[in-house]
Amino acid sequence: MTLTIVGSQLGDEGKGGIVDVYGSGADVVVRYQGGDNAGHTVVQDGQEYKLSLIPSGAVRGNVGVLGNGCVVNPRTLFDEISTLRERGLDPDVRVAERAHVILPYHRILDGIEEERKAEEDLSAGTTGRGIGPTYEDRAGRRGVRIGDLLDPGTLRARLEYAVPQKRALLEDVYGVPVEDHDDVDADAFDVDALHAEFSEYGERLAREGMPVNCGAFLAERRAAGDRLVFEGAQGTAIDLDHGIYPYVTSSNPTAGAAAVGTGLGPGVIGDGEVLGIVKAYLSRVGTGPLPTELGRVDGQTPAGGGRPDASDVAEYVREEGGEYGTVTGRPRRVGWLDVPMLRHAARASGFTGVAVNHIDVLAGLDQVKVGHAYELDGEELETMPTTTERWADCEATFRTFDGWPDVDWGAVAASGYDAIPENARAYLAYIAEEVGAPIYAVGVGPGREQTIVVEELL
Ligand code: GDP
Ligand code: IMO
Ligand code: MG
Repeated sequence: MTLTIVGSQLGDEGKGGIVDVYGSGADVVVRYQGGDNAGHTVVQDGQEYKLSLIPSGAVRGNVGVLGNGCVVNPRTLFDEISTLRERGLDPDVRVAERAHVILPYHRILDGIEEERKAEEDLSAGTTGRGIGPTYEDRAGRRGVRIGDLLDPGTLRARLEYAVPQKRALLEDVYGVPVEDHDDVDADAFDVDALHAEFSEYGERLAREGMPVNCGAFLAERRAAGDRLVFEGAQGTAIDLDHGIYPYVTSSNPTAGAAAVGTGLGPGVIGDGEVLGIVKAYLSRVGTGPLPTELGRVDGQTPAGGGRPDASDVAEYVREEGGEYGTVTGRPRRVGWLDVPMLRHAARASGFTGVAVNHIDVLAGLDQVKVGHAYELDGEELETMPTTTERWADCEATFRTFDGWPDVDWGAVAASGYDAIPENARAYLAYIAEEVGAPIYAVGVGPGREQTIVVEELL
């Protein structure tokens, strides 16, 4: 029995919290894509843990695996392990030898490409972690893998091929002298310095017994009866193939990637549960269209987009939901639930159930709306069009639900599903009907105890 967790919207749906809740029944939690662009919050005993790279299950004491589909920044990896150790935890983290390594030059090139794209209004608002450039090098067969860090000769050969190219890209294509980046990372384009730092990471990985042949490791654990959770990062609408290209991340959060990104067959994923995580409204960090957007955020909402006349509702949701960037404190864009997006996500990953989070955030509004469908060129659409430009032309058609009161959500969570206010239950039933999958869990607050589990899965 396996459980695959997939974000069904634009990321930050509360996947980490749900992984944590179901993690009590799991032995191994595996990430299959993405890197430290993710940001998961797990609240345990009033303590908040923020993780970017390490699987959320590590807080629970599960074995955490970074699968071959991930891109791994060793600096982040060891920082997070140290932080958890300082807080008294002892995370058991394994890293696929086939996973690709984010090098300092990837981060720098990510930043420069975003700056250039901003001039054409094309920037995706990336997290600047070097995710895109690292996946580019993977596909271009010039990447460095975790396995290469363990072999100094191979690492040197890989760097000697890649670094001069990166330097030329920076200087000759972007016209930026390498010295301009000395304040960011003086050694980012220096083969010897990179070799020294990254071969040391290799030694440390080996010393701590972290590198694994991911597929073989997981198959063995399964055969021994272990229960596996596959933890997706990001969300379906920013999936490289199924999302709002080009405003997407460079990997596939959808469930199919859990097979490719771990080395287990699709049957393993398909035989288990695929749980779509839904936030009860939309929030978005980054640019691009958003047909159900409320209010607008300068610098992110495109010209002519958003609903300035609904900025009071936007403000309410933003405040109640704490929708401000964790690093920059910038307001996030917010919108009503986009149901065509959910139908699209449910199909692309084959959701067997959904978890709906943040029901508490909408409490206190007189009315709660959902974008039920789109109108495009006089036709009604029930799912997302294939191009982002067409999506931008979609007018959402709304359905209105009566609001629900703000209540003692802790008490509701303690009592169970039937204690959820009736109007909120009507909202949940509607979502389940539209995505064609039952409600497995409901989040009524950020804590572990504020998630109502309807279906025990592991
Ligand atoms: P992830 O990236 O999908 O793992 O989600 P994040 O952790 O980045 O963002 C979700 C945020 O919402 C975190 O601060 C969570 O603690 C919080 N959260 C998760 N579920 C709920 C919920 O049901 N209600 C409320 N109010 N907050 C929640
Ligand atoms: P979690 O796992 C929300 C967004 C970025 C940007 C686009 C590309 O916490 O849900 P990237 O750095 O990946 O090349 O940026 O994707 N993005 C996320 N948005 N949650 C995330 O992860 C995200 N990871 C990337 O804002 O628009
Ligand atoms: Mg997040």
